[in-house]
Parts: sequence; structure tokens; C-alpha cells
Amino acid sequence: MSLPHESEEGRACRVCGGPVHEFFDFGRQPLSDAFRDPRDTSPEYFFRLAVGICESCTMAQLVEEVDRDRMFHDAYPYHSSGSVYMRRHFEETAHRFLTDALTGPDPFVVEIGSNDGVMLKTVGKAGVRHLGVEPCRGVAELARSQGVRVRTDFFEASVAAEIVAAEGPADLIYAANTICHIPYIGSIFRGVDALLAEDGVFVFEDPYLGDIIDRNTFDQIYDEHFFFFTVRSVGAAAARFGFQLVDVERLGVHGGELRYTIARAGRREPSPAVAELAATEQRLSDRATLAGFAAGVDRIRDDVLELLHRLRAKGKRVVGYGATAKSATLLNYCGIGPDLVSVVFDATPAKSGRLMPGSHIPVRPPEEMADADPDYAVLFAWNHAEEIMTKERAFRDSGGRWILYVPDVHIV
Ligand code: SAM
Ligand code: TMP
Ligand code: ZN
Repeated sequence: MSLPHESEEGRACRVCGGPVHEFFDFGRQPLSDAFRDPRDTSPEYFFRLAVGICESCTMAQLVEEVDRDRMFHDAYPYHSSGSVYMRRHFEETAHRFLTDALTGPDPFVVEIGSNDGVMLKTVGKAGVRHLGVEPCRGVAELARSQGVRVRTDFFEASVAAEIVAAEGPADLIYAANTICHIPYIGSIFRGVDALLAEDGVFVFEDPYLGDIIDRNTFDQIYDEHFFFFTVRSVGAAAARFGFQLVDVERLGVHGGELRYTIARAGRREPSPAVAELAATEQRLSDRATLAGFAAGVDRIRDDVLELLHRLRAKGKRVVGYGATAKSATLLNYCGIGPDLVSVVFDATPAKSGRLMPGSHIPVRPPEEMADADPDYAVLFAWNHAEEIMTKERAFRDSGGRWILYVPDVHIV
């Protein structure tokens, strides 16, 4: 069988070098976190956002790669602590580590992508030796102000070698919503190999391809999300680098994630959950499933546009809520601009007062929502629905309605 993306324009799998079958093309997209200063007239950067799956190892991945320095720079606007629920999630995660992986004498934990220190501050308060590795100076400074030790760098094999030389091996290497951002995964595994103690574990959590497909959450696909993991693809990647996937756990955060626990091959007995979940994943690489996903994306695009045009024709005021990275994919794929969604409210200081990437919809602080008196608000931060709807109860009480677009377009 000939593979359409084996040709010059196709790219080899970033894990195994196999052929990548492209299954959706979102066209030209801006960087999802490149919020613009309204006075900035410089040309905006665009790239082709397309996603494919490796015919050999089943790893889903972007077809084009954006240079890491364009995305992860000193003014990176995403702050992990912006959600009460996520703060609680990371506090619970830290407490769990403190009672299992970090109980030996003088334990040491390294977090890749520690952002504003949302997880490590609990570890630091417990007096446990730790180091965050975070390339973006702005969020790294926020972490330091919470008493967290941070190295301002991209984690990769050379950095891991320096850390182990200076501080010794790590009992735990942890990463949340970060490993899926890193195309150079071979360098990550080589770094983990250098840094991890013989009996240590590498634990990471990222959006699950199974949930993305089952819930039509196509907006999880954007520049920063390079890989879309499954038990099978992570297990295969780990094995290539001398590791073994020994546990998986489903997480409810960010619309459905998996937490993977990886150990050196042969050191731990894998839990039954690994084989159980892997056995359900055959469908995730079927051409029919991927074609169905593609059809679902276009159905959502058509339904969103139909609804927004109808509301505009009726003179309704429609705003957005949550200037998420995810929303860049929806807005730019659908061609939605300020004529359909006049403003997006978001509590992140680094986003407020700026324009959304590509669509140029203004971002304003949520305190201004009541004055705008909207009829409808598109909930771009659908993964924080409960928290935001509770916080903005007054909007609904005064007759406002939320528009959600996954798994299908509906109003609540
Ligand atoms: N762990 C936090 C969380 O779950 O909320 C932050 C997630 S944020 C979406 C991704 C983080 O990964 C960013 O802070 C980014 O700077 C960082 N990052 C990207 N590439 C990295 C690398 N090679 N090493 C360490 N951090 C990296
Ligand atoms: P995320 O989906 O990538 O976590 O991004 C969520 C965005 O929504 C982030 O820009 C912060 C914003 N947000 C609010 O403005 N208010 C809130 O209550 C929450 C939870 C998030
Ligand atoms: Zn592959």
C-alpha cells in the first residue's frame, strides 16, 4: 500500500523515523500563545498546523514543527496557577509524591516545565530537595518568588548531564503538560537516562488521544502540543530508549489526560492498567476512526459558524471566555474575528489588554464582563467549565447563556 505522506512533503516520525500519515490539516495558524500588543504592526508568524499518525509506532504528532524559542520565551503568558482546580490538582500530586516516590533518605525531584512553581512549591515547603527546569524566565521568576529552585533552561540531554553532575541522581522526574510539547523526545529520554536514579521513576501527564478523539476536542491540537500520546505509543517510545511503561492513570483535568509512570526496563512489574488500556486503543490508529474525527471537526466548525452568524443577525452580543491556547485553533480554523466574538475575557495579567493571535479579538479582564452585558459567552476554557461557571454565576443569573462547542455545539 502506498502511503500518501512518505513523499518529500511528508515527515518521518519524531520517535521512530517511520512514515507519518496526515489525517487533518487546519491550514495556516498563528502561535497559540502569541498575544499581540495592539500597537504592534510587525507581520504575524504563521505555520501549517496539521496532524498525523505514525504507521509504525502509532505516535500521533504534528506534521510541521515550530522552533521552540518562538513559543517558549521569557514572556510566555501561560500561568499554571490561574485555575483553583489545577492548583488543587498539583498540590494533591505533590502530596502523593511526598508519600510514595520521595520517601528515601534525602530524596531529589526534578520537574520539567515547572512553570510558575504550582507543583514544586508544595515539595519545597516540605523541605525536599528539588529543581524545576523551565525555559521561560517570567514564570520561572514567579516560581522563585514562591521559594522554588529553578534552572532557566530547556530540559534536554546536555542539561540533564549537568544536573546529575552537580546534584546527583533524581528519584523522581516529573512533567505535566510538557513532554507532549517537546518534539526532540530522544534527547528527553537520553536526559532521563542520565539523570534518573537506578530505581527512580519518570512520571508525566498529558492530554490523551483517546479523549481527544472520543470527545471531539480537536482544539487540543495547536503549535505547542506536538505529540498526542496513548498507552501504546508511549510504551513503544519508552522501550526504544531502554525504559518500560509500568503504570497509567486516567486524570480528569484538561478534558482528559493520562499520567504515565516509566521505570528502567525490567525494574518494576507493570500494573494491569497498562495492558488493559492498551487493549482498547487499536481503534485510535484506524483510518476509519481518524476520518470520523476529521468529519467531526468540520461539523463543529459549520455548527459554530452557523450559530454565531444567526446570533449576530438577531443583534445578540456574543463574547468569549478564556483566552486559551486551544481557542486559537477554533478561531483561526473557522475564521472567527471580532465581528462575531467581540471580546474575550481572561484573568491572566499577561494576556489582558492584548489581541488574540490571528483573530485579533481583544482580551479584557473578567471584571469588565458585567459592563459588556453579553447575551452569550463562548466558553473557550471548556476544561475549566465548572470553576468558571461558578465564578461567573451572575452572568447566567441575569439571562446570559454559555456556548460550548465540544463534543458538539450546544448552549447551556
Ligand atoms: N507544568 C505546568 C502545568 O501543567 O500547568 C506548565 C505547563 S505549560 C503548558 C508547558 C511548559 O513547558 C511551559 O512552561 C514551557 O516553558 C515548558 N517547556 C517547554 N519545553 C520545555 C523543555 N524542553 N524543558 C522544560 N520545560 C519546557
Ligand atoms: P488552559 O485551558 O490552557 O488551562 O487555559 C485557561 C485560560 O483560561 C487561561 O488563560 C486562564 C483563563 N481562566 C480564566 O480567565 N478564569 C478562570 O477562572 C480560569 C480557571 C481560567
Ligand atoms: Zn513512529
